[in-house]
Amino acid sequence: MPRTILFTNIGELTTNDPAPGREGGPLGIVRDAALLAVDGRVAWVGPAAAVAAGLPTALPIALPTATPAGGDSRPGRARGAAEASGGDDPLPPDALPLDALEPDALKPDEVVDLGGRAVIPGFVDSHSHLVFGGDRAEEFAARMAGRPYEAGGIRSTVQATRTASDEELRARLAAFVDELHRQGTTTFEIKSGYGLSVEAEERLVRLAREVTEEVTYLGAHVVPFEYREPDGPGADAYVELVTGEMLAACAPHAKWVDAFCERGAFTAEQSRRVLEAGRAAGLGVRVHGNQLGPGEGVRLAVELGAASVDHCTYLSEADVAALAASDTVATLLPGVEFSTRQPYPDARRLLDAGATVAIASDCNPGSSFTSSMPFCIAVAVRDMRMTPAEAVWAATAGGARALRREDVGALRPGLSADLVELDAPSHVHLAYRPGVPLVRRVFRAGAPLAGAA
Ligand code: NIG
Ligand code: FE
Repeated sequence: MPRTILFTNIGELTTNDPAPGREGGPLGIVRDAALLAVDGRVAWVGPAAAVAAGLPTALPIALPTATPAGGDSRPGRARGAAEASGGDDPLPPDALPLDALEPDALKPDEVVDLGGRAVIPGFVDSHSHLVFGGDRAEEFAARMAGRPYEAGGIRSTVQATRTASDEELRARLAAFVDELHRQGTTTFEIKSGYGLSVEAEERLVRLAREVTEEVTYLGAHVVPFEYREPDGPGADAYVELVTGEMLAACAPHAKWVDAFCERGAFTAEQSRRVLEAGRAAGLGVRVHGNQLGPGEGVRLAVELGAASVDHCTYLSEADVAALAASDTVATLLPGVEFSTRQPYPDARRLLDAGATVAIASDCNPGSSFTSSMPFCIAVAVRDMRMTPAEAVWAATAGGARALRREDVGALRPGLSADLVELDAPSHVHLAYRPGVPLVRRVFRAGAPLAGAA
């Protein structure tokens, strides 16, 4: 028997599924809404009043609003004709065959009353570095006293990570995962990159894989000490290791490959070697680029068809045009500019050009030690020229695009019932009330993750 949960009395439901009669453009807002989840998936979304008459009668009204997997609901992008007409596209191939269920199966086993508050999809944090030892609070304090951020600080975390035990790293990771859940993040990516030897990188991707399927192999984070010493083998020899033995050890645990294409890290040519080798090993491509100055990261990412290029702080006109014409998501990381006192990227420029923008935390001990997507939304709105609606979309649907996930990031039939209840009447409050813990309850696949009594 399927398990059915009715979430009702939702004052403002952000679905990220625009449809006729909904508000907020790409946010697809339904007011005074209800959502039915069956076996962890969204089965129906609509007015709460519609369920008063009984779910079986309400269901057929809403099912046709389902969009096909891969439908393009990015802000600024035209929607398909069938969708615009509320069309009759099929559900995603693995969606629940609701119409095959007996009417009794749709009677809720549980009713969750949202008390008129706002609900949004769970945050999708598409960029973090959560497996590491130590911290760099002193480096942060020195930076706030005027010292600039440099990529080389990564090496001090490498030292602390290499000496930490598996159990220490696991305990730390578990605490971070709890921290993410409590702040409304229901899907997250984790990168390696603080090991930088075959064994140490393998350990990091393996530990990351214990808590998420979105694992990124970042052996090309920086060149480690032992390769840089005057008589060391050098950067190109390290790239050989990253594309050879290290990749072979890490690829079985990873879904993605990444490279830090930046002054002080890897050149475009070295990054290309790493990314192409990763792709040949079956990994998807993501890139750290254009963080500390203008560079070739964005161009390389677009050329390789990367899912995402992250940071995008220093962009040329050609970079913006290339992103707008591509499927590569521009992932902005507001916590980095906050914590490094670099200038903020101009999200408006990217959005107006038609690029897809995601927001992620980049949680790491050096450049951005926050795991809070609400904080990132508030900064993006205040300092990167995003509207609250654009920022909420970027932190949910945008993150899902950056991870090429079609099962999360929106609340429409067939997708995972990942919901965040806000202690607020509207999604706007995430930016309007910065620093206030507005996340009240969090559900993933319909089950409570945090905050539920
Ligand atoms: O995404 N840019 C490269 N890597 C991290 C910083 C890591 C660190 O400083 O430890 C980032 O910002
Ligand atoms: Fe990063």
